[in-house]
Amino acid sequence: MQKSFFHKLYDYQLSTPLSLRILSILSADFLHLEDEIRMLSESSAEMIHLDIMDGSLVPNISFGFSVIDPIRKVTDKLLDAHLMIINPDKYFERFAASGMDMLSFHYEAAVLAGKDPSDWLKRIRGLGMKAGLAINPDVPVADIAGYAEYADFILVMSVFAGYSGQKFIESTYERITELKRFIDSKGYSCEIEVDGGVSPSNCAALAASGADILVAASSVFKSDNPKGVIDVLHC
Ligand code: DX5
Ligand code: ZN
Repeated sequence: MQKSFFHKLYDYQLSTPLSLRILSILSADFLHLEDEIRMLSESSAEMIHLDIMDGSLVPNISFGFSVIDPIRKVTDKLLDAHLMIINPDKYFERFAASGMDMLSFHYEAAVLAGKDPSDWLKRIRGLGMKAGLAINPDVPVADIAGYAEYADFILVMSVFAGYSGQKFIESTYERITELKRFIDSKGYSCEIEVDGGVSPSNCAALAASGADILVAASSVFKSDNPKGVIDVLHC
């Protein structure tokens, strides 16, 4: 099997990779965030996922640069920022300056702004980050598949963006398979990231459907053995 750029990047860490695990800190204990980041740094997670919400594109508000910048200072893990904000392009340079390795924005935000997602994807790549296009569960895969040509990854939401701890939406499997088929048929090197309700009980099926990168928060942070769950997610 041909290795993706993400897998090549992590060869030094991975033994038998089929999928990458990224930990969203949205379910972390923010009063003790440094401890949580250090735990993730020592874990087998390949990246840390930062959920940025503005209360406008999604119904919740999370955190900004006053949290992001210190995180960069205490971990060497790659950082993946998931922008759930309107007009995300206003901040691309700022996220690059904060040391993000992967940056995704929502297709819905581009539609609201009347902008072409491929232009934003090219800008993110031009800033030296991996560029991702995120879609909520009600966006037809056919509407965005063409942008896979310009994206390093498509972030397929398996819950509606806004909160950790929601129930995984089962139709996600078909959506991943449809997208994977399209990407393979075109020969694009675009990865599929899945975010929302990911747990040890569905990670193998997600990988089998075509997911390359799994994001998890509550299944890890609500567990008594977070590092152990992260190991299991490496399915
Ligand atoms: C939801 C966020 C997810 C969320 C995942 O809007 O994008 O990254 O933190 O949380 P779980 O794994 O609990 O569904
Ligand atoms: Zn996310």
